[in-house]
Amino acid sequence: MTTTTIKNGTIVTADLTYKADVKVEGGKIVEIGPDLSGGKELDATGCYVMPGGIDPHTHLEMPFMGTYSSDDFESGTRAALAGGTTMVVDFALPAPDQPLLDAIEMWSNKSGRANCDYSYHMAITWWGKRVFDEMPKVVEKGINTFKHFMAYKGALMVNDDEMFASFQRCAEIGGMPLVHAENGDVVADLSARLLAEGNDGPEGHAYSRPTQVEGEATNRAIMIADMAGVPLYVVHTSCEESHEAIRRARQNGKRVFGEPLIQHLTLDESEYFNKDWDHAARRVMSPPFRNKKHQDSLWAGLQAGSLQVVATDHCAFTTEQKRYGVGDFTKIPNGTGGLEDRMPMLWTHGVATGRLTMNEFVAVTSTNSAKILNCYPRKGAVLVGADADLVVWDPEREKTISAKSQQSAIDYNVFEGKHVKGLPRYTLTRGHVAINDGDLNMQEGRGEFVAREPFQAVSKALSKWKELTAPRKVERTGIPASGV
Ligand code: URP
Ligand code: ZN
Ligand code: ZN
Ligand code: ZN
Repeated sequence: MTTTTIKNGTIVTADLTYKADVKVEGGKIVEIGPDLSGGKELDATGCYVMPGGIDPHTHLEMPFMGTYSSDDFESGTRAALAGGTTMVVDFALPAPDQPLLDAIEMWSNKSGRANCDYSYHMAITWWGKRVFDEMPKVVEKGINTFKHFMAYKGALMVNDDEMFASFQRCAEIGGMPLVHAENGDVVADLSARLLAEGNDGPEGHAYSRPTQVEGEATNRAIMIADMAGVPLYVVHTSCEESHEAIRRARQNGKRVFGEPLIQHLTLDESEYFNKDWDHAARRVMSPPFRNKKHQDSLWAGLQAGSLQVVATDHCAFTTEQKRYGVGDFTKIPNGTGGLEDRMPMLWTHGVATGRLTMNEFVAVTSTNSAKILNCYPRKGAVLVGADADLVVWDPEREKTISAKSQQSAIDYNVFEGKHVKGLPRYTLTRGHVAINDGDLNMQEGRGEFVAREPFQAVSKALSKWKELTAPRKVERTGIPASGV
C-alpha cells in the first residue's frame, strides 16, 4: 500500500484554513495533524492543500453536431489533473430512441481510459415509456442527475410536457433534473432569420441567443421544477436574467442551483466580433459569452451564494471541426475547452483580485459540487476517510496559458495569452501523484466511476415539504344534491 505525507502546508477547505500535514494511504486520507511522517514526502511549504477540483460539467468524446468533441477521457482527465481538477462529471447522451442503459454502457467504454475519477449525469434526449421505466435503473447504477436540453431544436431539445413528465419522475426516484436553459424555438427562428439576412458569421451565433432567451427558459424550468416538487440545477448560467431567476427562486425558498462557467466569468462577447473567422468560431458555445454587466452579475452571485459552482462545460472542437460552419454559423460545433484552466483562471481572477476568499474558491470549485451531486465527503473534502483527491496549490507558481503547452488535444486555447498566478505543485488522484512539481505522471485507466446515491438531502427535504403541503380534498358534511 502506497503511503504519502504532505508536509508543511496550510490546509484550505470550504470552511477552514489551518496548518497541518496530511497522510495518505491506500488512496484515502488516513491522518491530518502536526508533524506527520511516512512514505513518500511531498513538501507543501508556501502552499495550500485543498480538495482536488470537481468539474461538474464536461463533454468528453461527445457525439454532437455531426462530429465528436476532440478531448476524450484520457486527454480530458489529463488536462483536468494538470489544472488541479481530480474528478469530472460527464453527460451520458442517448441517441434518439436509444435506451438509457445502452448510453451508460457506451460511456463506460469511453471512460476506461480516465486518469482520474469521474461520474455521469444522464441526458434525457427523448421521451417515452421506455425512458420512464429505465430512469430508476439509471439511479440504481449510481446516476442521480438527469439533464434536459431546452435548446438544440430538432436534435437534443425536449419540450415542456416531456420535461414536466421527466421532472415528476425525478421526484419519485430521488433524482435531480439539470437544464440547459435557452428557448430553443426562439433560437431556431432567430437563427433562420439571421441566415436569411446574410448574417452567417460566428457573430450570428451570439445574436441568435440573447440573454432574454436564457432568462425565459430558466424561469420556465424553475416553475416546472416547482410544480414537480424537485430541486433544479441550471447549467452554464451566463447572464443576469438567468441569475436573477435563480436568485429570486432561492429567496422564495426554492431549491435551485446555478453553475457559471469560467469562460463566462472571464471572456466576453467582443470575441465574436474578431475579424479572424477562426478566432470567433473557436469561441462559439451556448450560451455565448456576454458583456461586462453579466460577468459582474455572475461574480456577485458566487460572492452572495446565489450561484454555487464554477464549471467548464469542456467540449473541445478543433479549428478544422469549427470550420464545418463556414458560411453558416448554425453548423459551427458548439463548445469550448477549459478543464486545465478553470482553477488557475478562477484563482487569478477571483482570489487574487479579492472577489473570492480561498475558502469560497474551494467551495465553488469542489465542495459545493460534491454536496449538490451527493458524493460528499468522499469527494470535495480534506477529512480522514475521504478519497485522497488533493491539490497542493502554489500561489506563487505562474504561467502564460498557451495551446503549445496544454494537455487538451485541440490546436488552440480560448484563454491563449492569459497570465495566471496560482497553479498546482502536486495533484493527487486517490493518492497517486499525477502532477509532481511540473512533471506529468498519469496512470491511464486509474480513474474509477463514482456512484452517487439518490435522494440527496435537499431532495428529501423538498419531497417531505411537498407531501405536507399537497392539495387535499376537503371532507364536507351537508353536500347539496347536485343539479337541483
Ligand atoms: O456549447 C456548448 N455548451 N456545448 C456543449 C453542449 C452543451 O450545450 O452543454
Ligand atoms: Zn448546454
Ligand atoms: Zn454542456
Ligand atoms: Zn502512484
